[in-house]
Amino acid sequence: MSNDPLLQPYQLKHLTLKNRIMITSHEPAYPEDGMPKDRYRAYHVERAKAGVALTMTAGSASVSRDSPPVFNNILAWKDEVTGWMKKLADECHDEGCAVMIQLTHLGRRTRWDKADWLPVVSPGHEREAAHRAFPKKMEDWDIARIIGDYVDAAERMKAAGLDGIEIQAYGHLADQFWSPLTNDLDGPYGGSLDNRLRFTFEILEGIRARCGGDFLLGVRYTGDEDLPGGLTREDGLAISRKLKDSGLVDFLNVVKGHIDTDAGLTDVIPVQGMRNAPHLDFAGEIRAATDFPTFHAAKIPDVATARHAIAAGKLDMVGMTRAHLADPHLVRKVIEGREDEIRPCVGANYCLDRIYQGGMALCLHNPSTGREIEQPHAIAKAPAQKRVTVVGAGPAGMEAARVAAERLRPGAFRAGHGDLGARAGPRGLRCRAEGAGRRQRTAGRPWRARRHRRQGLGRALHA
Ligand SMILES: Cc1cc2nc3c(=O)[nH]c(=O)nc-3n(C[C@H](O)[C@H](O)[C@H](O)COP(=O)(O)O)c2cc1C
Ligand code: SF4
Repeated sequence: MSNDPLLQPYQLKHLTLKNRIMITSHEPAYPEDGMPKDRYRAYHVERAKAGVALTMTAGSASVSRDSPPVFNNILAWKDEVTGWMKKLADECHDEGCAVMIQLTHLGRRTRWDKADWLPVVSPGHEREAAHRAFPKKMEDWDIARIIGDYVDAAERMKAAGLDGIEIQAYGHLADQFWSPLTNDLDGPYGGSLDNRLRFTFEILEGIRARCGGDFLLGVRYTGDEDLPGGLTREDGLAISRKLKDSGLVDFLNVVKGHIDTDAGLTDVIPVQGMRNAPHLDFAGEIRAATDFPTFHAAKIPDVATARHAIAAGKLDMVGMTRAHLADPHLVRKVIEGREDEIRPCVGANYCLDRIYQGGMALCLHNPSTGREIEQPHAIAKAPAQKRVTVVGAGPAGMEAARVAAERLRPGAFRAGHGDLGARAGPRGLRCRAEGAGRRQRTAGRPWRARRHRRQGLGRALHA
């Protein structure tokens, strides 16, 4: 058996996770009619087959009608979701991959003119900078109804055979209750920290009562809002301990920061040019303070950093989410000692930007992501041999040559410029990547060049 820290199994209550690498919840906006259909399933199954231990599906799957998705999310408030999630879970389970889902109510983090045009609700009237809806301040019956919606949605996921769920609590309704910046309620749900946490604990209690102890339950939450007047690091530590001491949850999935502005979102999901693993030590502090299963993801794009996170005891499960968008076969390559063949995520955030513009998450660097059915990652050999000459050695030309070489016999790679991978001219990628902030974007070039060498591709520069 391997002694790689990343490949050691992890016992999460009754569930054995086969290694320490997980995909954290992220909505690629692939649902059709709000349901995770074939494209969605194929995306997760591809990664399950390659060995990821746990996939946290969806991202912000909506539990209530008055939480209309701002991009194309799963509608977990509909009964028909159970059948679709069951198919997905069954196929991932067949590959030995555990499956959970993130459930949420967006609260004020949505728009009034979406779906049924219902009032946007929150525990205060404060608007979110990013989505700009004027929230209705929640009343008792809103609170009771939405708690019930979370419990019903969790029950649907249990019926679908999922291993568990996590409740989203950063920027969404759950932590809009937690944060003094957004909770303006009097009475049992406002004021003291315990009161502000009451909504979350009532959700967790309801889910436990309905779904039982063998359904795994966690919270993905901010341990420090990093905002004046918001939840502090001390609040985050107190909340972490309270979650553990409640006996209601099985894992903590920690993030740091706030997402009510685009700048805030970028600190939580850092992009190219920003430091790698910026919040790993913070997550490690929460693990040390609670001695409780701790998950975390934030720009841990490479295997070495992920290995360090586990080996140093900072995390129990390390999230490599965009890394899996870019290379779905990451874990298989680690297992087979082919780490240098992992296609790196270059951090350009094209995937995330696309969903905010109403599209599907596609990868700047891997055109098969999200197109697992019609454009598979594993490239089949062509039935007949042909000679292909690729003119141009930018990222597209290099990728075309790589794919052609997989399909066919190696040939000549004909480039129009003096170097592989990008134009040096004013509009070229290499020029635009000169600044340190963008250098990461060119990481695809050495990867493709290595692939070309292994494929025996010749090249003729200055052709
Ligand atoms: C396309 C996309 C959609 C995401 N949607 C969600 C979401 O709905 N809920 C959530 O908690 N995180 C979401 N995330 C954040 C990821 O779970 C993860 O925290 C983030 O990508 C940082 O981890 P990474 O550097 O390993 O990718 C999303 C990320 C991406 C790229
Ligand atoms: S689009 Fe960019 S950030 Fe997103 S997965 Fe692909 S390489 Fe990574």
